[in-house]
Formats: sequence, structure tokens, C-alpha cells
Amino acid sequence: MPWAHLLQSPIEGILSEVSTAGYRICNFCPNVFDDYIQLNIGVRKQEPGGHCVSARLLAERLRRPNYQPDRDLFIAKAAAGVVGYMDVTPELNLGRVVLDCLVHPQHRRKGLATALFHHGMHRARESGARVAHVNIAEDNVAAKNLLTRLSFRRVRRFLELKLSLPEAHYPDAEHTTLLCRHFQQGDEGRLTQLQNRSFSGTWGYNLNTVEEIEYLINMSDCCPESIILAGDGDRILGYCWTTITPEEKAAPGTRRGRIYMLGVDPDFQGRGIGRHVLAAGLSYLKSRGVETAELTVDSQNRAARALYELVGFRVSSTTLWYEKVVRC
Ligand SMILES: CC(C)(COP(=O)(O)OP(=O)(O)OC[C@H]1O[C@@H](n2cnc3c(N)ncnc32)[C@H](O)[C@@H]1OP(=O)(O)O)[C@@H](O)C(=O)NCCC(=O)NCCS
Repeated sequence: MPWAHLLQSPIEGILSEVSTAGYRICNFCPNVFDDYIQLNIGVRKQEPGGHCVSARLLAERLRRPNYQPDRDLFIAKAAAGVVGYMDVTPELNLGRVVLDCLVHPQHRRKGLATALFHHGMHRARESGARVAHVNIAEDNVAAKNLLTRLSFRRVRRFLELKLSLPEAHYPDAEHTTLLCRHFQQGDEGRLTQLQNRSFSGTWGYNLNTVEEIEYLINMSDCCPESIILAGDGDRILGYCWTTITPEEKAAPGTRRGRIYMLGVDPDFQGRGIGRHVLAAGLSYLKSRGVETAELTVDSQNRAARALYELVGFRVSSTTLWYEKVVRC
């Protein structure tokens, strides 16, 4: 294993460049930005469960709150340029970091991901996280083997659901007296509160700050009107947050839309509000030329799964979450 000496060497603070066997791993810096984006766009869509990502969204993700690319993103370089990365997202309210690793197909089986994970786990320790989590497609054999070998264990199964919007059915949605409206400037605090109340205690949900909510609303796959709020008077009791992937070359009718978040105040659950606001979110996506709506749901979230099935969503694929305890 050409990386053996790297795995033993202590890494302190910001990494200085280290090199072996024609590769170097270093912290992200602005001059690798274009190569990093190209690697992501070129390789990600060919992977199991992978899909197109826009350069703009990737650039926006580098500016997310509580994340610093020069500290949380490690880059593997070869003579040809950037060939891999390890991205570490701190979610410290939950005591975890989420790791994401990619290696260019021509540079695989050389121990690069193993070395990148070493850096990711070191960063996790440094940040004070208790556990590291990784999400992979169920049919990603390479990642499964890698994670097992690195002593990660499988902890959760998530489902990817799809719905062809012309075939959606919205039972009983018209029987509620609640009003739906689009998000408006000034709703940030109320939306943050509602989201945190709705998802508090949910596996993998990191309580959001107003700053994080504002950041997400300003991403290029979102806009204020893509968030539907349901309430009576001044109170917001439920919301459906939709996103539309900005794919520059998407033909009409092929735009990808997502139900990014759907939540109802716990004191008002079980009264049809979720169904009502979901129907409003799907109508919005349809009005914007989206043909197929997608979403991700925890396989153990029976209430949400039942609602999505009622409307016509069907499972299209499965992803697995792996976990490893971060040792002090
Ligand atoms: C998963 C991935 C990161 C592995 O990168 P890599 O640099 O090739 O991994 P390593 O060389 O460090 O491999 C370590 C071990 O992982 C397992 N592994 C890696 N690729 C594998 C493959 N194609 N088939 C089966 N096992 C594989 C093996 O156990 C391997 O050890 P070995 O080569 O001694 O048999 C890479 O395939 C990739 O970028 N895939 C797309 C992105 C992705 O799936 N990310 C999630 C990462 S957890």
C-alpha cells in the first residue's frame, strides 16, 4: 500500500501538501476550483445513484454556513490535475460530520480513497464530532467494500421516490380550510422554527439556524416562491419546500424537481395538513414545467412514506447510511 506512511503521519491543523507515488493530498485552495468542479461534473453522473450537478450549485455549496473549503475539503492531485476529493460537512448540533469522497475512475484501486478517508476522519476528530456518516447508493459495491474495510457500519436505509406529475392524485386536498401561500421575505425565522419543530429528533436532522435557512433559499435551485406555507391567520402550521435543479440544457418537460422538505407542526399532525401542502408543492412544480418529482425519505418514517405512496410516489432506488465512531 503506497499510502502506508501517510496513514501513520500526524496531520496538524491545515495540511501542508504531502506526496507519494505520484499523488498529493492537500487542502482545497481557489486555484484548484475549476478542476474540482470538472471532476465532480464529469465523474459524478456516471456513478451508481449519481446525477448531473450544475457548476453553479457546486460553487454555491462551497459557501455553505459553518463550512470552510480550505479546512473541510481535501484534494487529491496527480500530474494531470485534481483526481479526487474528500468533503467533510460538520453538523455539530447532531455531533456528526458527513463525509463525501470521489476518486476519478482512472486513479481507483490505488489507495487514494483510503488516504482521503484518513484525512476526513482526522478532520472529524479535530472538529469535535462524535460520529462520521457516509451516504451511498445501495448498488455501489466499491463504496460498500471500502466502508466495510474502514470499519464503518450500516445504520440506516433511505429511499429515493419518484412521481410522474401527470399521474399524481391528490385525495381530499380540497377539504381543508387552511390557506397556502408562497414564502415571503420576513418568513425566515418562522420557517426555521417550524422546520426545527417538525424534524426535531428525526434521524440525521441537524437543527438549522436562520442563517442556514437563508443560505438555502438563496441557492440557485430554490426561490422564495418554491416554498409553500400552509396556515391559518398568522400561524404557519405546515410547509412544502420544493427545489428545481438548474440544468442549463434541460429540454422542456424534463426539468427535475424535488420535494426537499415537507413538515407539519407536531401539535397539528394527523389532520390532513401534510397532504394539503404537499399537493400545493406538487402543483407548483408542475406549473414550472417539471415532469417528474423526486424526494428522499427515511425507510423508517412510516407516516411520510404512507403519504407519499397515497399521492403516487414509488421507490426508484435505495441509499445506505454508514457510521463510524470518531475516536478521541
Ligand atoms: C468508492 C471510491 C471512492 C473508492 O476509491 P479508491 O481510491 O478506488 O479506493 P481505494 O483504492 O482506497 O480502495 C480501498 C478498498 O475499497 C474497496 N474497493 C474499491 N474499489 C472497489 C471496486 N471497484 N470493487 C470492489 N471493491 C472496491 C476494496 O476493498 C479496496 O481495497 P483493495 O484495492 O485492496 O481491494 C471510488 O470508487 C469512487 O470515487 N466512487 C464514486 C464515488 C463514491 O461512490 N463515493 C462514495 C465513497 S464512500
